Amino acid sequence: MARQFDTVGVVGLGTMGAGIVEVFARNGLAVVAVEVDDAARERGRATVVASTDRAIARGKLSARDRDALLDRISFEVGLDGLAGADLVVEAVPEHLDLKQRIFADLDRICKPSAILATNTSSLSVTEISVATGRPNQVLGIHFFNPAPIMRLVEVVRSVVTAPDVVADVEALCARLGKTDVTITDRAGFIANALLFGYLNHAVSMYESHYATREDIDAAMKLGCGLPMGPLALMDLIGLDTAYEILDTMYRRGGRDRRHAPVPLIKQMVTAGLLGRKSGRGFYTYEKAGSPVVVPDDETPGATDPAAADGARAIAKVGVVGSGTMATGIVEVFAKSGYEVVSVTRGDEKSAQMRETMTASLTKAVVRGKLAEADRDAALARVTWTSAIEHLADVDLVVEAVVEELSVKKALFANLDEICKPGVVLATTTSSLPVIECAVASNRAADVVGLHFFNPAPIMPLVEVVRTIRTSPEAVATARAVCASLGKTAVVCADRSGFIVNALLFPYLNDAVKMLEASYSTADDIDYAMKLGCGYPMGPFELLDVVGLDVALSIQRELYLELREPGFAPAPLLEHLVTAGYLGRKTGRGFRDHTSR
Ligand SMILES: NC(=O)c1ccc[n+]([C@@H]2O[C@H](COP(=O)([O-])OP(=O)(O)OC[C@H]3O[C@@H](n4cnc5c(N)ncnc54)[C@H](O)[C@@H]3O)[C@@H](O)[C@H]2O)c1
Repeated sequence: MARQFDTVGVVGLGTMGAGIVEVFARNGLAVVAVEVDDAARERGRATVVASTDRAIARGKLSARDRDALLDRISFEVGLDGLAGADLVVEAVPEHLDLKQRIFADLDRICKPSAILATNTSSLSVTEISVATGRPNQVLGIHFFNPAPIMRLVEVVRSVVTAPDVVADVEALCARLGKTDVTITDRAGFIANALLFGYLNHAVSMYESHYATREDIDAAMKLGCGLPMGPLALMDLIGLDTAYEILDTMYRRGGRDRRHAPVPLIKQMVTAGLLGRKSGRGFYTYEKAGSPVVVPDDETPGATDPAAADGARAIAKVGVVGSGTMATGIVEVFAKSGYEVVSVTRGDEKSAQMRETMTASLTKAVVRGKLAEADRDAALARVTWTSAIEHLADVDLVVEAVVEELSVKKALFANLDEICKPGVVLATTTSSLPVIECAVASNRAADVVGLHFFNPAPIMPLVEVVRTIRTSPEAVATARAVCASLGKTAVVCADRSGFIVNALLFPYLNDAVKMLEASYSTADDIDYAMKLGCGYPMGPFELLDVVGLDVALSIQRELYLELREPGFAPAPLLEHLVTAGYLGRKTGRGFRDHTSR
């Protein structure tokens, strides 16, 4: 018969524990909430109270329900009050010896039928379980941060966890309104194994001044639709906890260098910069525990940086190319009031582009998003030509031709002969070195990358890539132009994948490797990232949309440039591409789309 869970215990009321207490109490369970001393207990209580107050303010909880919820919680010091609990969830800091000590104590104190669970993110549940005399009643219940909000729970069974214990905990998760995925005991389980390499990589970008913290975070939010950027997420997780998770994953997960914590993390932890909980991490917060970011030394100035850095005036823009990106970019500029010269390889291509752009703008008119007169004005601003000489009087050229270096280099050499001095020359390449185009142009100081995302009229992000030769004025011009298009520009150095692809594709590749290792299914991995981390799509959904061939070629570039063994493309990805399973565009990728 299934177990009844009436009273549960939670040990440790920090970032996770306080949220877990709230989840249980909200769902009608009596909770014994335990801390190490009076001060920590009161901090834990204050966290739960503040969180329920916020729920009231948002209209998600009534004052009466809040009072009933708080009445169900008994805040205590020491483990003795847990003797009657049916289930205990431990959420103390990520140290194996501490957790083992607590589990040995819990084993002594709790009734024989009680299930003992750890919220560990990376430690071995099996190693924790053997500190007790009941390893078959020990498992991992891994909640996500913030526990009251995130829907996912990873249920981790060790080789000795009894099946009925797993089944009863799965049923409890459903009662809590959570979706669970049940998996075996491996470092990082699903979500953290895919998340932490990415977070660590983002910190290394920040540490090496590759881009600012604001730009790294904005890039991932706007480029991938993530709920928060990686550095803000590190602050939410807590840098001390993140350090321990990375360190354990490095040691347990095959010493993948991508999990070796970036030195800056340790330095920040040592200096007491633990993230939100201490009031300062990558960002500065109003006070300890507050989610409100306040300006600090690194906050970009309130004055327009573009104006200060001598941005050049741009009125007329040339766009070279006739593909999806070029067409979208012509539309974006024309709609924003720029005069545009669209250069293609022939009249037929120009006619096609004009037709596509007209259709796109007409759709906006039908949807009531654009006035008919504005559509006509935008179309009238474009000169369609196959003669590159027409770029002689433009102020900015955006190149969006085929992704082949020889073609781009020849074009940039040509632009040098045609364009007037002082013109900013931009390439939209997503994988080639911008410096190659810069050198070919003979005007390296004026060359930037302008990496638009597809579809350009919709995606709000542009990566502005500065090479080691790009002048500050060219960067300022690019930023000002992006702002005038209503886009957010993030500036980064000229390295393979820029910000977004360099952080996104290794994560996707890792998901493929996880599937290949049969650790979990594509569905569960997709769930884990959507419900545990708030991603708009799971990795396999996204790979099928992006195209497996595209993902493979970006991953190859990253691997070739950085020579990082962990970046080697997953063999399964290569095989699927070879088999012609490229994703939605061929009807089949990780999933079969023909019958849907
Ligand atoms: N932070 C996250 O985003 C996150 C997400 C999921 C899981 N986890 C995991 O949850 C666990 C807790 O992490 P956290 O971020 O909440 O840590 P935290 O540092 O915010 O909180 C830990 C709490 O445990 C208390 N504690 C320490 N020793 C204790 C003892 N002997 N008895 C009772 N309480 C004790 C501390 O006083 C502190 O309040 C870790 O295993 C972590 O890996 C963290």
